[in-house]
Amino acid sequence: MAVAKKPAVAKPKAKAAPKAAPSKLKGDGLSINTSVDGSAREKVAEALTKAVADSYTLYVKTLGVHWNVQGANFYGLHKLTDEQYNELHQAADEIAERIRALGKLVPTGGETFRALTVIDNEAPHGTTPQMIKQLVLDNETVARRMSEFAELAEEAGDLFTHDMLVARIGVHEQNAWMLRSSLGE
Ligand SMILES: [Fe+2]
Repeated sequence: MAVAKKPAVAKPKAKAAPKAAPSKLKGDGLSINTSVDGSAREKVAEALTKAVADSYTLYVKTLGVHWNVQGANFYGLHKLTDEQYNELHQAADEIAERIRALGKLVPTGGETFRALTVIDNEAPHGTTPQMIKQLVLDNETVARRMSEFAELAEEAGDLFTHDMLVARIGVHEQNAWMLRSSLGE
């Protein structure tokens, strides 16, 4: 009787080490000599990767609420979340572009953002009031994070990033107020 040959088991290939992001992109050319010095740029850019992940995740979450709200106040909440998600989308773009102006690359991708943000957008949708309450809490959380990052930027001597993040505190606190008021709370 012929002995069935064991299928050859392919040896698992050693996983290639993730490539480190190049410190300089081709075409970036000249070295950077702006108002923020090298080590400070590094620190601020790292904080901004968290700020962009927070803004982007809250953008997607607000968009989800915009789609799923229902009830007597449907139109008002649908319009309010429309304004808020559009503003958050633009803010994520501005924060990302500040990272580039600091000479660093912007991380992207769902997994990467999930690791950088404190906003949970994986939980199933609740009722409309629960979704709105959750957005209030998320905007408050992001306002506190932006405040922390703004202080870091100021300590690093990056006045432009400081001001940009201070403006973000105001937007998130205003978002929280409008959402909270729409619940009559
Ligand atoms: Fe829409």
